[in-house]
Amino acid sequence: MGISIKTPEEIEKMRVAGRLASELLDYIEPFIKAGITTGEIDRMCNEYTVNVQHAISAPLNYAPSGYNPYPKAICTSVNHQVCHGIPGDRVLKNGDIINIDVTPIKDGYHGDTSRMYMIGEPSIQAKRLCEITFDCLWLGISVVRPGARFGDIGEIIQKYAEKNGYSVVREFCGHGIGAKFHEEPQVTHYGKAGTGPKMEPGMIFTIEPMINAGKAPIRELADGWTIVTKDHSLSAQWEHTVLVTETGYEVLTHSAGCRPKPDWIS
Ligand code: MF3
Ligand code: CO
Ligand code: CO
Repeated sequence: MGISIKTPEEIEKMRVAGRLASELLDYIEPFIKAGITTGEIDRMCNEYTVNVQHAISAPLNYAPSGYNPYPKAICTSVNHQVCHGIPGDRVLKNGDIINIDVTPIKDGYHGDTSRMYMIGEPSIQAKRLCEITFDCLWLGISVVRPGARFGDIGEIIQKYAEKNGYSVVREFCGHGIGAKFHEEPQVTHYGKAGTGPKMEPGMIFTIEPMINAGKAPIRELADGWTIVTKDHSLSAQWEHTVLVTETGYEVLTHSAGCRPKPDWIS
């Protein structure tokens, strides 16, 4: 099939979906405090998506082959949970770190983004992991331009994570996105520069590094979705949806409350 090149009309719809995804995270941010449950966060996000944004939550009932339908509207991954944490009765407490990953569908197109939130005062190690992972995301974004290779993203992220004593999760990657939630290519967060397909204007994909404070291996919980680190070390993730432009990149999951890129990134 190959990697699709989006038309100008599709790109405009992806800008709208991306902005809504980021605005959903802006909306929920003030509620992410000690005492709230991940289930309440899910309920509020879904209601905002449906009633305010007039969109739908892509994760709800999402069923890739080999998986049971995902039961909730968003993913909430706490502490040593790497990704795909299912919202429920868990109460957030001081010192927790949580990734909230949202994907509204608007007018048939997907916007996919996630951020880390810290509850109260997390450990210095937890804060550092969230910061380094944010920098990994932006280092990956910074190499996006026509003619670059997908391996360029992987190498720059892997080098920075490992230089800082962390490891990169191998089993889950970024992905092409558009009218489908997950399409080609697979955007690995490890690899070799100069390898992989060439980027072209009009390609749209996510970059979403999952970085572990300990070792890279993961396992899946009995719920069939939640991924945790095997060694129980903390894990962090940030995600943006990115368009390849004629001259570089455009971050589509952008909004007023979105954390600015590090000032040392071009
Ligand atoms: N939003 C996730 C991603 O970044 C995918 C979640 S699939 C779900 O690709 F079913 F778990 F929601
Ligand atoms: Co994604
Ligand atoms: Co996501």
